Amino acid sequence: MRTPSAIGSLVFLALCVPVCADETANDAAAIAVFNERIMPIFRSPKPSSCVQCHLAAVDLKNYIKPSHEETFLSLRDQGLIDVKSPKESKILNLIHMGEKDADKRSRLIHEKTRKAEFDAFAAWIEACCNDDELLKRQPADGFEPARPEHPDAVIRHARKSRVVDSFVRNVWSQRMRCFPCHTPHEIDADNPQHKKPAERQLELVKKFGQKVNLFQDTPEKTLQQWIVNSRISSKRHLPMLNLEDPRKSLLILKPTAKLPAKKEDGEFEKPSSVEPVSHMGGLKIHVDDQSYKAIVAWIQDYSNVVGNRYKSVDDLPADNWQPTLRMLRMKDCPETWPVGTPVQLFVHQWDEQRATWNADATAFTQGTVTPKRIVNGSLFVFGSNADSATSDGNSPLAAGRYRISVYVDQRHRIAEDPTAMLDERDLKGDINLQAKWLEGFKQAEIISFGDAAE
Ligand code: HEC
Ligand code: HEC
Repeated sequence: MRTPSAIGSLVFLALCVPVCADETANDAAAIAVFNERIMPIFRSPKPSSCVQCHLAAVDLKNYIKPSHEETFLSLRDQGLIDVKSPKESKILNLIHMGEKDADKRSRLIHEKTRKAEFDAFAAWIEACCNDDELLKRQPADGFEPARPEHPDAVIRHARKSRVVDSFVRNVWSQRMRCFPCHTPHEIDADNPQHKKPAERQLELVKKFGQKVNLFQDTPEKTLQQWIVNSRISSKRHLPMLNLEDPRKSLLILKPTAKLPAKKEDGEFEKPSSVEPVSHMGGLKIHVDDQSYKAIVAWIQDYSNVVGNRYKSVDDLPADNWQPTLRMLRMKDCPETWPVGTPVQLFVHQWDEQRATWNADATAFTQGTVTPKRIVNGSLFVFGSNADSATSDGNSPLAAGRYRISVYVDQRHRIAEDPTAMLDERDLKGDINLQAKWLEGFKQAEIISFGDAAE
């Protein structure tokens, strides 16, 4: 990374030695505005107002070159300055974006920075466009315009709203597995069946404090709270979201941990929030089941975004699955698959027109082999299919003919990378079925590995 302050001082020298000699009055005006108002933005260690929506990968500084003239040529030649109507310049529109944010709180937080940036750029562009000499100038050969180093797809991926959307699908969607203990807002005072759970939840809050109220009323507030909590690190408490090592996030270590040991008097010991972690809620998620995968994949992605680790489109994870309440259960796993082995089940739909199975899977789930030799999981629907997964009656998992491809992780790929998708080398067989895909555990579609064709 270039350090703005170092470049800043170089610029200062470069600007004032040769250029100052024969500058016109207009030139001087534009240069003055640049030095007084644009350079401070360039040098500031603080992120620009773009951070309101972009967690990484783009900053207003990326568009500033170390000199007034170069910055102008760079922006003009990228079409970001409109020399005919300076006020309509695209760079001003980009800065103005924040005004349109539906999130009022966020809009207000960044208002001051945004306004300062907007006014500075508007004044400087205006001054530049009054300078006929400058307007005629062409960049030297080999001139490199200034723009973010990351491609647009990476910039879009690092958007806050995309991260929140992914959080909703991967983490928020799993919250009912934590009911009622951590979901005070899912408790309905008018529902007689919720009376007991509500009392239990209150007791837990009394005993363990506000931290039990893990899920807030909206995904945005929940995420915000966890991000803030994760900044507090202590010897007795792992971070909620561990950006260095996603699998060591309390968010996933707690629900995959057992109850604390019992003392002699029969009371539980104090639950531990460092390894080995114990959880007063007991074991709620199995390592490598589909909730585990979704949650760890989300923390990993979030960590890569804020760590600015995505450089190219190839680095981006698919992030295209959406949870459903449809369950798939496979019985009769062979003895050669040890208990705990991760298994991925991919659902392929029969294509009536082409009279063949769709090569792209419609949905998938992941689970581990249980002692009863079963693999269980709720389905995640993929890709553009996912958009229609929630709209009524338009599910991509309509009743019909399906083929389940069974992949078994005997190469321990998932231990290395919990977000991994298994491939042809792990394929153990296919099972065809006529499925209804009704919702809920009791209506799971059941298959037997005994019916698999290699
Ligand atoms: C209110 C939210 C918001 C703010 C503030 C914002 N952007 Fe964006 N930006 C977006 C959205 C939404 C997209 C994705 C557009 C799409 O997917 O078509 C985007 C995409 C981009 C892209 C990728 C190219 C493209 O058009 O998709 C660039 C570059 C970019 N923004 C630059 C900036 C810069 C520079 C700033 C600050 C001066 C900024 N943005 C401020 C919402 C914002
Ligand atoms: C039966 C009640 C119960 C259920 C269900 C439950 N938990 Fe817990 N959980 C607790 C209690 C009580 C605590 C506080 C004591 C402790 O740290 O173990 C806790 C603590 C936690 C913490 C630590 C919070 C902090 O800031 O220290 C996390 C994270 C957590 N649970 C995650 C989960 C997740 C995720 C689920 C659902 C998949 C879940 N729990 C299901 C009762 C439950």
